[in-house]
Amino acid sequence: MQLREVRASDLDAFFAHQQEPEANLMAAYQARNPADRAVFDHHWNQILNDPKVLVRTIEHDGEVAGSILVFDGEAPEINFWTSTKFWGKGITTSAVDAFLAEFTKRPLMAHVVQDNLGSIKVLERRGFKIVGTEQIFSNARAEVVTENVMQLD
Ligand SMILES: CC(C)(COP(=O)(O)OP(=O)(O)OC[C@H]1O[C@@H](n2cnc3c(N)ncnc32)[C@H](O)[C@@H]1OP(=O)(O)O)[C@@H](O)C(=O)NCCC(=O)NCCS
Repeated sequence: MQLREVRASDLDAFFAHQQEPEANLMAAYQARNPADRAVFDHHWNQILNDPKVLVRTIEHDGEVAGSILVFDGEAPEINFWTSTKFWGKGITTSAVDAFLAEFTKRPLMAHVVQDNLGSIKVLERRGFKIVGTEQIFSNARAEVVTENVMQLD
């Protein structure tokens, strides 16, 4: 696994990852219509041109495995997405390690739906603690879900 800068050619893979139903349900926070490429392109254009965003491609064996980013606003917030093909190999844990070494501002926040046990495990393993909960409407699930608010000091 390695992190590197995002290339324009990575976006097709990110878009394909966004179609995976299992990951959508797990993450719960997806766009209303993940299959809408125009919305996806608009969103990623904003991400790649926002000076407050640090984003990296997660690459594994020469393939695009996912992405990891932080919105460096008032309360910096980490977010990551790995394609189902690459799950269960420790790739996201390694990606979070590498990213935390590059982005060193603390506290660092994360919001994770309470039943997303894999993501909670990845974050807790690296020292994030649950400091609260929030309710959001999940497009992927079409219901209100409770997220853990997690913080790394
Ligand atoms: C959740 C996600 C990040 C995990 O990616 P991954 O590369 O498989 O993660 P890792 O292999 O590094 O570690 C995951 C750990 O959680 C465990 N885990 C995964 N799913 C689990 C579940 N449903 N219940 C309990 N543990 C689970 C794994 O066994 C592993 O632990 P281990 O190393 O002790 O075996 C990935 O599935 C994903 O991208 N999901 C969609 C997007 C998302 O949810 N993003 C989070 C928003 S911040």
